[in-house]
Amino acid sequence: MPNVANPTQVIAEIMQLKQQRNAIILSHVYQPPEIQEVADLVGDSLELSRRAAATDASVIVFCGVHFMAESAAILSPQKTVLLPEVNAGCPMANTVTAEALRAKKSELPGAQVVCYVNTSAAVKAECDIACTSANAVQVLTSLPTDRPIIFVPDKNLGSYMSKQSGREMHIWEGCCPIHDQLTADEVLKVKSEHPQALVLVHPECRPEVVELADHVASTTGMLRFARESQNKEYIVATEKGILHQFNKQCPNKSFYPASDKLVCRDMRSITLEKVLHSLQTLEPRVTVNAEIRERALKSLERMLAVQ
Ligand code: 13P
Ligand code: SF4
Repeated sequence: MPNVANPTQVIAEIMQLKQQRNAIILSHVYQPPEIQEVADLVGDSLELSRRAAATDASVIVFCGVHFMAESAAILSPQKTVLLPEVNAGCPMANTVTAEALRAKKSELPGAQVVCYVNTSAAVKAECDIACTSANAVQVLTSLPTDRPIIFVPDKNLGSYMSKQSGREMHIWEGCCPIHDQLTADEVLKVKSEHPQALVLVHPECRPEVVELADHVASTTGMLRFARESQNKEYIVATEKGILHQFNKQCPNKSFYPASDKLVCRDMRSITLEKVLHSLQTLEPRVTVNAEIRERALKSLERMLAVQ
């Protein structure tokens, strides 16, 4: 790994190599600010999946966590997909395995299986349709009503989807350790300090936190809401990396994190040096076994077809 101390030089080398490699850099909104600044697209999981499926680039440098890069590899198998930090995972995705899901399916024959995109390719291969936090309710309401539904792995998102749609589901017991630690008391404390602020909540938060929301949305949905609303102040109940985009897109408004604990270490493990190293070496590469890919692709394609 190169040890280049000068960020300006690293950024210049990234930009040059990006052109030479015909590469695109995709960044999730939780990434460190300097990564967001070198990206061609900064977005939520749904936007990044759509771009990965549509890009003409030969190389996708995915600045996010493993399941996101894997989704890009499923959607664009002919492309080289790089994850600059190979150990950047999602603890929530790790709460369900293909084997455990198969066991659950055998208890509920005929059930339709919906997976949050925060799952491995092997889990997606066991499912009928995927969803992200941006389209979860639409995906659920697109399903036939005459068969039971299993949802993996986020119990908080699952509970939110059920309430919004009125549809019951067999919900897995997983959760995001970052969002799930946020309590209603913490949000209320910040609200007491900023009584005019609207509360924006990601549906991975606990139901008690979701109940306090003025608006529940995916990360990009929160940004859209803040851009379009007349309100000047917001409490943000999701990973703090998103504050960079809030401040950039709405420079005349104020944003307060609901808690300083809202930090995803995996998301923060990508650095400029690692992005440069990936472009130099075309490693670490994320690939998906062909048989799993084919089945996982159906779940993602069905999701992308839902409006
Ligand atoms: P979004 O799809 O809203 O970007 O969320 C992804 C994620 O990992 C949230 O923790
Ligand atoms: Fe996974 Fe939570 Fe990190 Fe999102 S914030 S990548 S759900 S651990």
